[in-house]
Amino acid sequence: MSEKRSTADFDSEANDADVNDAADADGGGLDASEQRTAVRDRYAGIATGSSASCCGDEDAEPASCCGDAAAGEESTAESGLDADADRSRKLGYSEDDLAAVDGDANLGLGCGNPTAIASLEQGDAVLDLGSGGGFDCFLAAREVGPDGRVIGVDMTPEMVEKARANTEENDAETVEFRLGEIEHLPVADASVDVILSNCVVNFSTDKPQVFREAHRVLRPGGRLAISDVVLTSELPDDVRADPESVSACVAGAASIPALEEMVTEARFADVSIEPKDDSDEFIREWDPERDLSDYVVAATIEAEKPSTQPAGTATSETAENDTAEEAR
Ligand SMILES: C[S@@+](CC[C@H](N)C(=O)[O-])C[C@H]1O[C@@H](n2cnc3c(N)ncnc32)[C@H](O)[C@@H]1O
Repeated sequence: MSEKRSTADFDSEANDADVNDAADADGGGLDASEQRTAVRDRYAGIATGSSASCCGDEDAEPASCCGDAAAGEESTAESGLDADADRSRKLGYSEDDLAAVDGDANLGLGCGNPTAIASLEQGDAVLDLGSGGGFDCFLAAREVGPDGRVIGVDMTPEMVEKARANTEENDAETVEFRLGEIEHLPVADASVDVILSNCVVNFSTDKPQVFREAHRVLRPGGRLAISDVVLTSELPDDVRADPESVSACVAGAASIPALEEMVTEARFADVSIEPKDDSDEFIREWDPERDLSDYVVAATIEAEKPSTQPAGTATSETAENDTAEEAR
């Protein structure tokens, strides 16, 4: 069990972080800013109910990303919730998980169940990168208990608003949502025990920066427990360059070797990236026109921030962390 801290340690002054351009773009013909705008617009539409689907045909219902499982079905609010629940079972959530969270926190947008691999403990401080409606945050809050804390960060204001409404509906006093980018986390150094994320890192145009930020905010000994999609085969150009289609969910996916290099370069240890063998079952449903399981697979990304820095490798980040620890 880790040393526990108060909510104040989470640097709430940094709420609602500035939005900065990421350094590089890897999404076909779109630059980083265009990609981010396309992603934010899409999720704003999903959060407010004005956009039917994250991936695939704009007219498909109900909302899903990554996924379009119920495209073509007649949609009602109830059938939309049922479809989200069905999708979540395929991602690895239990009936107990589905029953534990009220409201529309579960938008069926993930590609795994990161809390299932996170081994959370009572009192842990947890950060969810790209928290959407907050489903994984509320599940995490259940596991870390009243002495734990959970922060969700998302760059889409409408999603953060929805998640905050769900916080009230779930009476979740230990959960908070902050507007910000995962490349520039509005979170204090060395303040969290576990980082979760569900189908978000693939969107980032600067993934090495995401892992550097993750390393900064984790306390020594803290862990990554991420679900995401990874690339298994080169995407066709038309998929890579299309921001408004299913490409928005897969165009930025990186290969396992590329991710291993990024995580290792961010100074994590025990890096493990494992494909989820049965994920083709739900990935096939993401696009009615092409089988995306030919190109991507869902995977878990796990790693640990070493408890001690190797001798002679003190960096400005460790100096900053020391200062932050001293300030507590
Ligand atoms: C596929 S949804 C996943 C939502 C949630 N993790 C879930 O499983 O339901 C992606 C979410 O990540 C957010 N997002 C995408 N790129 C982001 C970034 N660079 N920084 C912060 N949030 C981001 C989007 O606004 C959206 O809410």
